[in-house]
Amino acid sequence: MDVPDSSAPVASFQQVWKRFGDIVAARDLNLDVRSGEFLSFLGPSGCGKTTMLRMIAGFEQPSEGDIYLHGSRVNGVPAHKRRVNMVFQHYALFPHLNIARNVAYGLKQAKPRLAKNVIDERVDEALDLVQLGGYQQRRIWELSGGQQQRVALARALVNKPEVLLLDEPLAALDRKLRREMQIELQNLQRNLGITFVLVTHDQEEALSMSDRVCIMRDGEIVQVGSPRELYDNPVNRYVADFVGKSNFFDGVVESTGDGRQAVKLENGQSLDVDLPTTGDSMANGHQVALSVRPEQIVLARDPARLPDDAAIVIEAEVRNRIFLGEHTEYLLHDDAFGEFLALAPRQVEASETPFEVDEKVYVGWSRAAALLLDNTT
Ligand SMILES: Nc1ncnc2c1ncn2[C@@H]1O[C@H](COP(=O)(O)OP(=O)(O)O)[C@@H](O)[C@H]1O
Ligand SMILES: [Mg+2]
Repeated sequence: MDVPDSSAPVASFQQVWKRFGDIVAARDLNLDVRSGEFLSFLGPSGCGKTTMLRMIAGFEQPSEGDIYLHGSRVNGVPAHKRRVNMVFQHYALFPHLNIARNVAYGLKQAKPRLAKNVIDERVDEALDLVQLGGYQQRRIWELSGGQQQRVALARALVNKPEVLLLDEPLAALDRKLRREMQIELQNLQRNLGITFVLVTHDQEEALSMSDRVCIMRDGEIVQVGSPRELYDNPVNRYVADFVGKSNFFDGVVESTGDGRQAVKLENGQSLDVDLPTTGDSMANGHQVALSVRPEQIVLARDPARLPDDAAIVIEAEVRNRIFLGEHTEYLLHDDAFGEFLALAPRQVEASETPFEVDEKVYVGWSRAAALLLDNTT
């Protein structure tokens, strides 16, 4: 490899394709991984997340296109020559070695050889980082699943990688432990300043931990952005559906003009929608989905309480109610709109008293709350 360029992205995909026989696991990927960021690949099983990680690590080579690490093209450079480490879902620890020797394993292969006291020091340091100081002599089978995952992490960190690749590292842990480890991983990433690239199919995990999320489908990158960007400005229905909950109403564009579009919904309703400042208008007849987040739907017994610029006012029936602490989630039904969800914050409810199942309530949302999404991609 050439001299690293510190201004270049830590890792970069340029027009990368990966084929396994007839299967296309990566289609024309273009992505820069920024130095020091926490980036997640999010998408359903089989969409190519692990393949991307393995190409950064050097366990797979692209069929076409180039991979760069710090500005140097690394196609063909084997994994052990890259300053990249990977943590797997299945920890792949050595059961016959104690914790310290599991963690030291990679260091012992280093050339030129490292002195024993240097290895011991680095192992101690790595175990401290994952809060397993003092566990050096323990056996793998004496540890819980969460502790074993920490040993796997320590084994990667001990090599002081520039990029840590994490392939669904928490998938085997129960919910509570997973949440704890998410927070620990985030703290670790901030404290060490190492670039983390995480693969997950859990949207909550991706959104809560990452600086940026890369949403994938069928070997393609659909959108890359901060959790907030993806939530507020999804490029299509697929992203909006993946990132948080949303209601979708299908329709076609009827007319365009002056910062807004008129949409004819399948249910026969025509609605005015504000265009996002960044978005292009879509041609008349284009298939769209109107996306309205549950928290943007306003419920009231008195229609005067609905937003002044309400795009719509309907009377819907409350079908179900779930108390979620700060919010109450209502499942509503209207003959034209079908079933949809609304999330009422506690303070709204305090002024109205909660709506009852079977009650008819007024429902509205402001014109700007509805997003018009391409329904063809
Ligand atoms: N070594 C391989 N040989 C053949 N097909 C593979 C291989 N690795 C991955 N694939 C296929 O490539 C696609 C993407 O797989 P993968 O990257 O593991 O997805 P993900 O991690 O998102 O679940 C899948 O269809 C998978 O079956
Ligand atoms: Mg995978």
